[in-house]
Amino acid sequence: MTKFFVNGKPVQVDVDPSTPLLWVLRESLALTGTKFGCGMALCGACTVHLDGKAIRSCVAPVSRAEGRQITTIEGLSTNLTHPLQKAWIELDVPQCGYCQSGQIMSAAVLLAENLKPSDEDIDEAMGGNICRCGTYPRIRKAIHRAAELASERGPK
Ligand code: FES
Ligand code: FES
Repeated sequence: MTKFFVNGKPVQVDVDPSTPLLWVLRESLALTGTKFGCGMALCGACTVHLDGKAIRSCVAPVSRAEGRQITTIEGLSTNLTHPLQKAWIELDVPQCGYCQSGQIMSAAVLLAENLKPSDEDIDEAMGGNICRCGTYPRIRKAIHRAAELASERGPK
């Protein structure tokens, strides 16, 4: 049995410890906001947070989560009040949407570490998240907008 926390709630799953965390999230826990893209840590669609750091859940065995905090897109906020959610909606960022939960989860780590990222900071932090629809310019704008919204909101 592997025990850990997802979006603040304790969970336990009875799966092979080498099972990718992505499958556990989607199939055992029905958290389908996190997407499968490449399965090889190359696209970022499966990005979640492990103790606040972005990881690729397609290549992380669930055993890595033992006793730790996982945050998925569902845990960012339940009422669309997170600055990234507001900015993404305001700027209508997604096209097909498939990559976007991974984009937002990577952006969340960036903003947690850097509240005023430059274009270069954004490009560096987001470089591992691929968008086949080419929404990169809107993603960049939305991260700047989310940074503004976060600074207006002040510390939590
Ligand atoms: S599905 Fe995990 S990085 Fe592509
Ligand atoms: S919005 Fe379609 S892949 Fe990014």
